[in-house]
Parts: sequence; structure tokens; C-alpha cells
Amino acid sequence: MGVSWDRMRTMKARLAVLGSGSGTNCQSIFNAIDDGRLDAEVVIVLSDHEDAYILERARRRGVPTAWLDCGGYKNKFPAEAQEALARQLSELKVDLICLAGFMRLVKEPLLRAFPRRILNIHPALLPAFPGVEAWKQALEAGATRTGCTVHYVDAGMDTGEIIMQAYVPVLPDDTPESLHARIQVQEHILYPAAIISALSRL
Ligand code: GAR
Repeated sequence: MGVSWDRMRTMKARLAVLGSGSGTNCQSIFNAIDDGRLDAEVVIVLSDHEDAYILERARRRGVPTAWLDCGGYKNKFPAEAQEALARQLSELKVDLICLAGFMRLVKEPLLRAFPRRILNIHPALLPAFPGVEAWKQALEAGATRTGCTVHYVDAGMDTGEIIMQAYVPVLPDDTPESLHARIQVQEHILYPAAIISALSRL
């Protein structure tokens, strides 16, 4: 699954983006490609929710989309679904998988098929506040600063090696919504930069 230096020189990096929601981080990847910061191509966008807006963003751009059938489970990402996805993304010769608001845990066999090739963006300064609604966790803990992290995905929950982080202050009158919005501004700068860094290490 190694990518030769010659291939990297002559071909754009091929990205797959997985998300469960609105897809503003996916949009930031599209924007970075369009303004020339990121020399890559998004070859497919996938979601576990058929009506997720991330899929609409991709369709509007002409990027192929697919729905991930998770067998009716609310949170689980069944092994068979991960196996099928690994095959699909290998056939598409994907270099890097970018989780962008994807709310299921990736495990074997996807990790085995794409070692150190799966990234995630998380709305906190890991290792602080892993898991869901990390901005709410930061507020409830009385943190005075939080942020966002891009990391490699491993078998744990938000435990993989950190690639880049950005700080965000928590303001006295912050609500969960205002804090998450301020974190997202940083996410949209951080994720493309971290993808560039990860691609340079392939
Ligand atoms: C982002 O804030 C992302 O960090 C978070 O979901 C949001 C998705 O927004 N991810 C997690 O909480 C993963 N644990 P988006 O759909 O607009 O990119």
C-alpha cells in the first residue's frame, strides 16, 4: 500500500472524507484544494447518514458520494461495513482517509488496510476531553482554554498520535454553541494544514 515518491510527484494525493453531519470541515478541505494550498483531490465522500449535508456539499462539487450501511446500529461501525469500506477505498487508490465529524469508532480492519493513513479532527486539545461534544465538556469543566486537534486514528477513542493542535480561549459568557463556533473557525484552518503535513510524511 506504499506510495512511491515518483507517484507523489506526478499525481495528486487521493483523499476520502467520512462525515456524519454538516461537513464544514469537508468544505474547508475543498476550499484548500481550490485555493491551491492543498495539492490533492477528494475522490469520494461517505456518510453513515443518507441525508447528511456533507453528502450534498460533495454532490454540488461533482464529487462521488456513498452511504455507509452500518446495519441499523446507532453508534457501532460493524466489522463487515469496515471491510467493505476498506475494499472500496483500496480500489479507489485512496492515500488518506479524513474523518470530518464522523461519529463512529474506526477499528480493524480499516486500520489494518490504511495504517497511519486515517486522520481525525477533534474539537478539543487532546488528550483533554475525548469523546462526544468536547466543547460542552470543556465548558462544564470550567476550562479557560480549549481548541482542536488533528491526530492519526488508532484503535482507541481519540488517542492516536497528534499531528497538529490549535488553541481557542473559553470566554466568560460562552454558550456551548458560541464556543463550538469559535473552535470550528480554527478547525477549518487546522485540518487542511494537518493533511498537508501528513501527506508529506507518507
Ligand atoms: C467538528 O467540530 C468536529 O471536530 C467534530 O464534529 C464536528 C463536525 O462538524 N468531531 C467530533 O466531535 C469527533 N469526535 P462538521 O460536520 O461541520 O465538519
